[in-house]
Amino acid sequence: MPRSRISLLSRLDTVSARFLINALDKADPRGLHHALCVAELGYALAKRLKHDRFGPNEQWLAGLLHDIGHLGIPRAISEKRGKLTARERQYVQQHPKLGKFLCDRLFETPETSRAVLCHHERPDGTGYPAGLTGEDIPFMARVIAVADAYDVMRSASWLLNFRSHDDALEELRNGAGSQFDPDVVRTFLKHENAILVTYEAAKKLKVEEILRSI
Ligand SMILES: [Fe+2]
Repeated sequence: MPRSRISLLSRLDTVSARFLINALDKADPRGLHHALCVAELGYALAKRLKHDRFGPNEQWLAGLLHDIGHLGIPRAISEKRGKLTARERQYVQQHPKLGKFLCDRLFETPETSRAVLCHHERPDGTGYPAGLTGEDIPFMARVIAVADAYDVMRSASWLLNFRSHDDALEELRNGAGSQFDPDVVRTFLKHENAILVTYEAAKKLKVEEILRSI
């Protein structure tokens, strides 16, 4: 349960997290469900990656917030099924900057904002918004990228590219070093079973349980 994950946040961050969970639940329940899965997967990965500055609690919060900028994207675009036009894609690709804008004003930790801003960067430099490469991409953003991709591939309600667990792992393996941080992918594969248990539990989490725990 996320109680222990939230308990280390400052009071202001806790209030802000609660506010945003409520806002997302009203505006985009599917997006909130995705955010919770990315938060829980990120927590499980960060626990095993043992970064000296960013622990699982910080990772959990950054994962929860990573797509918060979607609140600023027109609903007709953010809820569209199928292929986006080039102009619609431009809109959608603003969400990391919008997310940083919100986080800068609501949270005390600049690292959270940086992770939100950079979660679509890729180690090979083909990501956005800045085209950062390798370890110039913040650690928490690199973890989010893997958790995000796994949940999108495993969720039937997202796009059209639903994958089995094994196929999703293969995609992560193939993208290690180009789309994904190789250490994060290696950790995912090494602890595949434990991470899968976390993920399956995350999929069953109810918003009320999260809110009660904050
Ligand atoms: Fe995103």
